[in-house]
Amino acid sequence: MNLQIKSFEEYQEVYQRSVEKPEEFWAGIADHFYWRRKWNNVLDWNFKEPKIKWFEGAKLNITENCLDRHIYQLGDKPAIVWEPNDPNEAHRVLTYKQLLEKVEQFSNVLKNNGVRKGDRVCIYLPMVPELVITVLACARIGAIHSVVFGGFSAQSIADRINDTGCRLVITSDGGYRGTKTIELKSIVDDALVQCKAVDRVIVLTRTRTPVSMIKGRDVWWEDEIKKVETQGNPTCPAEEMDAEDMLFILYTSGSTGKPKGVVHTCGGYMVYTGYTFANVFQYQPDEVYFCTADIGWITGHSYIIYGPLSQGATSLMFEGVPTWPDAGRFWDIVEKHKVNILYTAPTAIRSLMASGDSYVDGKDLSSIRKLGSVGEPINEEAWNWYNEKIGKGKAPIVDTWWQTENGGILISPIAGITPTIPSYAMLPLPGIQPVLVDEKGNELQGNNVSGNLCIKFPWPGMIRTTYGDHERCRQTYFAAYENMYFTGDGCLRNEDGYYRITGRVDDVLNVSGHRIGTAELENAINMHSDVVESAIVGYPHPVKGQGIYAYVIASGHHVDEDLTRRDINQTVSRIIGAIAKPDKIQFVSGLPKTRSGKIMRRILRKIAEGDTSNLGDITTLLDPGVVEEIKAGAEKLR
Ligand code: WT7
Repeated sequence: MNLQIKSFEEYQEVYQRSVEKPEEFWAGIADHFYWRRKWNNVLDWNFKEPKIKWFEGAKLNITENCLDRHIYQLGDKPAIVWEPNDPNEAHRVLTYKQLLEKVEQFSNVLKNNGVRKGDRVCIYLPMVPELVITVLACARIGAIHSVVFGGFSAQSIADRINDTGCRLVITSDGGYRGTKTIELKSIVDDALVQCKAVDRVIVLTRTRTPVSMIKGRDVWWEDEIKKVETQGNPTCPAEEMDAEDMLFILYTSGSTGKPKGVVHTCGGYMVYTGYTFANVFQYQPDEVYFCTADIGWITGHSYIIYGPLSQGATSLMFEGVPTWPDAGRFWDIVEKHKVNILYTAPTAIRSLMASGDSYVDGKDLSSIRKLGSVGEPINEEAWNWYNEKIGKGKAPIVDTWWQTENGGILISPIAGITPTIPSYAMLPLPGIQPVLVDEKGNELQGNNVSGNLCIKFPWPGMIRTTYGDHERCRQTYFAAYENMYFTGDGCLRNEDGYYRITGRVDDVLNVSGHRIGTAELENAINMHSDVVESAIVGYPHPVKGQGIYAYVIASGHHVDEDLTRRDINQTVSRIIGAIAKPDKIQFVSGLPKTRSGKIMRRILRKIAEGDTSNLGDITTLLDPGVVEEIKAGAEKLR
């Protein structure tokens, strides 16, 4: 059985087989990877507990699949091409051989610093090759990485470190993003005030931003590398892992409480990311592939590092932002590195589209063969622009739907093989069994239906647990509907059986492709001393997809609204990070609540959207009068 599907007929046939004989299907896929020992059992599962075990008894190390196994044939092929923030700085290329060397070297640094199999390691680094090296070094020695996106605050880092119980943090003096320098080490220092268990910080030099190195705790990356060099131990054998050993933890927001640590395991995640990368993008051996995501998010884990590298691809990573030095930067990168596959987010497409075609016109984009989109629904206008302006009408667009919890792409076209329609994720990949259910959990049969999107059979890349709290995993994903994984997304299946994701049906916002939990954000805002209560809803935003609308009850004494707005934003930046700052803050004297005290978000959402003609039944509200006041206030903010 081949890994890549080559025709629509083959897709249909393979899909059918994957549903009828899933274990046989997945064993066939898994055979394309290198295992030290094969599995006794392909799958053992129930969605009640949930228990999900793939390839039990198998032994492997994912880095042997991403690095060692390529060396003989692809040793001199670029594995990572790195484009710096500043276009005048030299780019870097790491071949597979060089990447393996660096990973082994840093694996030994980790070992020298007391890291052992099963230990958790927190990584807070900018988008530099050392981030890939660090992630893979953890995987090589069996340490569990927990990457924290560079846009998160000290408080968020502290929460994540304490939740994972890690002792070691890897960061850099600073990081470049456009014209800004982010002082990463200083942010880590602030976080560590709350993390008494951390006794080692390894600091990479990137920006030469002044830092305070704490004696006995902080060491320089470069010094640690020198130590390994003088010790003369350049290689590091890969630790043998069980298929179900943890590979990493990645935090994501939900509708309640603090972010959860989504746990992925070695065997299934490797198989799933490699399989989906090879198929969805139809990667060919000579191609340069550029995913614009940050490695701090799942897209970067799965589709900058693990998926592409396990397939021997050339993966381009970019340190900067799409709009600096100007809105043509992506296209400069495509031209410079002759990128064949570009995978980016609708928010980036919309923002570059809004900057005007002058940034695209005149750029040589002839290398582009395939385009991808991820993170949020892509509107038709953006899809068409991407198709015409970037793909010149010749590059298939894969609108890939998936989630942090899924490990990899679940519903998506296969580039050039299966059909595409603007704003549709189209068809499930073989092995994925989506269902639409109504409010009561009844499966909606046939086509031309819409409902809540669930998956009724496990796949190797799916979440295993939420770190340290299995019950929360059950509650969040497996309790809403019996025997199904609930995605939190609404979806329609059109008359031809094609899927279109319509957006979250829970209280989770998707702002520029970033997941924001409303409860988490409300808690942050409520920490501000002038705030009595708050309610967060999303509203349509032309570039971000969704904007953040905050209704805030401020305390009785006189407040200067603009000042308080700034203070609230500051508080949010402190507690979560700048990515969660509200776009609009409206001060209100009360919130629409039911008699049982529940905030009626439906009404707040409509007002935020500017659609106040039909607010539905408001007579059950504790104080219906408050609605008029909120409507009037919203008018003024517009
Ligand atoms: C949520 C997951 C893993 C991808 C990066 C975001 C939304 C994601 C699409 C798409 C429509 C999409 C969903 C999903 N989403 N991709 N192609 N079309 N919506 O991962 O942070 O875990 O967010 O992003 O609402 O539930 P995430």
